[in-house]
Amino acid sequence: MPAVGGIPAGVPGREYPGNLTPYVLVTCIVAGMGGLIFGYDIGISGGVTSMDPFLIKFFPSVYRKKHSETTTDQYCQYDSETLTMFTSSLYLAALVSSIGASTVTRKFGRRLSMLFGGVLFFVGAILNGFAQAVWMLIVGRILLGLGIGFANQSVPLYLSETAPYKFRGALNIGFQLSITVGILIANVLNYFFAKIKGGWGWRLSLGGAVVPALIITIGSLVLPDTPNSMIERGKQDEAKTQLKRVRGVDDVEDEFSDLVAASEASRLVEHPWTNLLERKYRPHLSMAILIPFFQQFTGINVIMFYAPVLFNTIGFGDNASLMSAVITGIVNVVATMVSIYGVDKWGRRFLFLEGGAQMLICQLVVAISIAAKFGVSGNPGELPKWYAIVVVLFICIYVAGFAWSWGPLGWLVPSEIFPLEIRSAAQSINVSVNMIFTFIVAQAFLAMLCRMKFGLFLFFAFFVVAMSIFIFFFLPETKNIPIEEMNKVWKSHWYWSRFVNDDDDYPNVEMSKGAQATKNV
Ligand code: BGC
Repeated sequence: MPAVGGIPAGVPGREYPGNLTPYVLVTCIVAGMGGLIFGYDIGISGGVTSMDPFLIKFFPSVYRKKHSETTTDQYCQYDSETLTMFTSSLYLAALVSSIGASTVTRKFGRRLSMLFGGVLFFVGAILNGFAQAVWMLIVGRILLGLGIGFANQSVPLYLSETAPYKFRGALNIGFQLSITVGILIANVLNYFFAKIKGGWGWRLSLGGAVVPALIITIGSLVLPDTPNSMIERGKQDEAKTQLKRVRGVDDVEDEFSDLVAASEASRLVEHPWTNLLERKYRPHLSMAILIPFFQQFTGINVIMFYAPVLFNTIGFGDNASLMSAVITGIVNVVATMVSIYGVDKWGRRFLFLEGGAQMLICQLVVAISIAAKFGVSGNPGELPKWYAIVVVLFICIYVAGFAWSWGPLGWLVPSEIFPLEIRSAAQSINVSVNMIFTFIVAQAFLAMLCRMKFGLFLFFAFFVVAMSIFIFFFLPETKNIPIEEMNKVWKSHWYWSRFVNDDDDYPNVEMSKGAQATKNV
């Protein structure tokens, strides 16, 4: 029996045989590297936009503002919309492409979307690295964004479908691990490239994105497609062989017939988008919208995009600020590994709730510390060293809390709860909502810091409370449950059960028989 703790009371667990073979492990590691392009971009933009030669070439007015304004209000010294637009525009492109990726992923397989993601990102990186004019930067960033939309739409689905269900959490979090590694590499590179004499280091930073782009491109060419996707596209025999390979056992009949049943049900659905609005998909649709929304309203990207700026604001020198960003980057990677270790043991709900509590405490401490020194005037006078250390420490604990909860789970949980017939479309909603709120937070942060001052941290703390209450009452535990069996989880939930009927549970024995019969006609 799978750990019954993962299944809400009264839900019978179903076991599919499957082992964590070297084959499935390597496949998932390679696919997970699709997160590198996203992470690299998150980590690189903030550093590049703080490099003077880059500003002088493309944003001279921002450069002049940065160096001429003598304000004592630390909260407002970086407030510049042109610059944030450069960083955040990419997320709008990602939003658009994730919608298109839904069709590619469903009709042509998860791999093709990953390939598109890699190629688009590659071209964008080249354009950015060689940019001579602002239009090249912008077109480059749009291409990067399109690439990220495709990758983030397909990679989490690929991982959740390929992994044996008992290890699904850990293997899926390979995606988030690559995001964090990408961010860290980018932070370290910025640190060194900024020092290059002649001021062209930003070209290396931006052009360096070709490396993660090549990794995902080559990866998508060598990886097999998922059995679910092969069945969805009518390749039954290939799918069965592939299922045996990824499970490392020959006895895959039960799982295979459930996958076929899911695919039959999926074929009846002509319009996955309008379908999503049906009552029985209300729990899925709610999660596809609320999980990414809440993930962004933890305020994590304030740290990811603006850590150097933030540390500068609280009194660190330029070098120390970049260094602190590297430290938070390391914490981010290490804490993600904790999640890989624990997610299939302790479950998703425990991590969500623990991470939420940890982030809340840190946000309150940071808000109080900043309020105590900077007040509302933003002029702290001389800052003692212990003060900066306390703030950085709590920011690190906050990042760790995110990195083992909302970070990975924000990608894992949506990818494992959607039934096949709406999986692709619902995942696009997840990515789009994530991107739109990443855009909004990135775009608004500096202006918000300038106006809300230390209250900004309380603003995000409020959302952390709201999201934890939401998880407590509305998110059922999904660990150790095969994804084609997920309907049972909703059916036994105190609230969502009213939306999901018995006959919606297509991968049950009856339906499998029905599907078999249809196949045999
Ligand atoms: C989020 C990103 C964030 C990153 C930090 C991801 O899960 O989607 O917005 O920057 O985690 O590690």
